[in-house]
Amino acid sequence: ETITILAPGTVANVVCGFDVLGFALSHPYDTMKMRRTTEPGVVIINRDDYNLPTEPTRNVAGAALLALLRAVPDDVGFEVEITKGIRPGSGIGSSAASAAGAVVGANRLLGNIFSPAELVEFGTYGEEVASGVRHADNIAPCIYGGVTLIRSTTPLDIIPIAAPPLFVTVVHPQIEVKTSDARQILKKQILLRDAIIQWGNVGGLIAGLLQSDYDLIGRSLQDVIIEPVRSILIPCFAAVKTRSKAAGALGGGISGSGPSIFMLSRDEATAQRVESVMQEIYRAAGLDFHTYVSTIN
Ligand code: HSE
Repeated sequence: ETITILAPGTVANVVCGFDVLGFALSHPYDTMKMRRTTEPGVVIINRDDYNLPTEPTRNVAGAALLALLRAVPDDVGFEVEITKGIRPGSGIGSSAASAAGAVVGANRLLGNIFSPAELVEFGTYGEEVASGVRHADNIAPCIYGGVTLIRSTTPLDIIPIAAPPLFVTVVHPQIEVKTSDARQILKKQILLRDAIIQWGNVGGLIAGLLQSDYDLIGRSLQDVIIEPVRSILIPCFAAVKTRSKAAGALGGGISGSGPSIFMLSRDEATAQRVESVMQEIYRAAGLDFHTYVSTIN
């Protein structure tokens, strides 16, 4: 039996919620074909030209599957064929999608023996290969869908957050920002006055989502800790934010560790206007880019 898994891109952090908030996109997504093999272990086949490793311990899907296999008593094996719909290094959870998709597929082939939370745990081993840190803010929304809060990673405590309809415009300027580098440059200590602003915004964003209060969502999309440091790595960041908001977006910021920027809008027409604004900005700057309009899914 061969099964097909569609693993969506995700936006981690959601501006104020560094390492604790994330949401899943309706597209782009990776397509993964999986089957059980008679040989125990993991075989990875990459169906594109991104030069991603196929050695399971160095491949994000492979590392996640090896973590899952350690929790299975019998000798089982999987073959995974990955077609990347999400560009690696774009900041919309490309590594998480492959890792999450692989463990979701394996679980289905094993007769659903693991809970979603256990799958997130396995998936974070893929993130460790990609960035050196087992953060779950892309893996969890990829597996649960919608918006998720990672209240704690040890022990893992994932809370799905109901959200009103929201449209997402993403621009991926074609530059490389490694998550490991984007973490390295962060300050290890923060000021209490900044922490107060930040947790006010996290609380506001969660309340805004639960109450379908679009203005509150917009007011809470503010990050005084991470964005001032990381935005320096992203060309035209300030212009994208300011002009997208002028075009009607509720707000937005860096997607994950960048370089993609995402903006939220309450209707599709606004999200498309925001896309045109982003295109204008990067065309004028002479930079290659890709844009996506999708929904939180
Ligand atoms: N929370 C992680 C970070 C997400 O910002 O480093 C990386 O995609």
